[in-house]
Amino acid sequence: MSSIVYLNGLYLPIEEAKISVLDRGFTFGDGVYEVIPVYHGNIFRLKEHIERLNNSLDEIYIDRPHNMAQWQEILRELINRNPAEDHSLYIQVTRGVSERDHAIETTARQTVFAMSKPLLKKDYSAGITAIVEEDIRWKYCHIKAITLLPSVILRHKARQTGATEALLVKDGFVTEGAASNVFIVKDGVVKTPPKDGNLLPGITRDLLVELLLESEIPCEEVTITDKELKQADEIWITSSTWEIVPVVKLDAEPVGTGKPGEVWQQAIKIYQAFKDRMANDICDQS
Ligand code: PDD
Repeated sequence: MSSIVYLNGLYLPIEEAKISVLDRGFTFGDGVYEVIPVYHGNIFRLKEHIERLNNSLDEIYIDRPHNMAQWQEILRELINRNPAEDHSLYIQVTRGVSERDHAIETTARQTVFAMSKPLLKKDYSAGITAIVEEDIRWKYCHIKAITLLPSVILRHKARQTGATEALLVKDGFVTEGAASNVFIVKDGVVKTPPKDGNLLPGITRDLLVELLLESEIPCEEVTITDKELKQADEIWITSSTWEIVPVVKLDAEPVGTGKPGEVWQQAIKIYQAFKDRMANDICDQS
């Protein structure tokens, strides 16, 4: 069964959804996006994702096409039209169609696209391997821009060595993964780099920091050097679709014991309990 997608006000089979070759997303990579998980019908952290989308749009001077209620309606409709247990929702907003001119034409109407696919969670509980790479991206990494060529190259470099993710270092400091945020654990203290232009303010990252502190697990938003990364007892990466994944090997060297660590075991339990709580709250309301 082909999936039904949303494009500029219409719900269409994916094969019928078409955009102009003059769409600025196509010619300039002029747009932003979001990826949102859905667990048992609960659009997880919707408010936070739409707030980040709005922030990305504001930063690149694209008017917000929808308010929170409208987004919710579009995404609900997509979920209903594409039955699955869990979903991964994708939203993309571009500046729309205009002559190929670098200057921004204010009359162009945004292109709004959204799709849903089943969220098939891979089992990463045994951990993944990662490599360290120089962060070759730009200075506005807090914007979730569709221009992902550096990330595509970095992820490919990881895959070429048999690793799953590339952890990025800029001027000696860890920023994030090619498509994930990074956490380390040293002597029982969890650390993740502070939010600035060098990394995406991950929704999973922010939630995890909140949940760890609530559970009185020490967690700091501090700079991490590449040396600290290499000497960490544990390394984790986070993202909306992967949640919290332990890195057990870095540049072919074991991380800590070479097995998912104890603090990760605690973190994943806390995270799962939060997800269950959210799902139950939704059930209680319906
Ligand atoms: N990427 N950093 C980068 C560069 C990312 O691309 C992502 C997620 C994250 C994690 O953010 P969040 O927890 O909000 O998913 C951090 C998505 C999943 C993607 O591009 O498909």
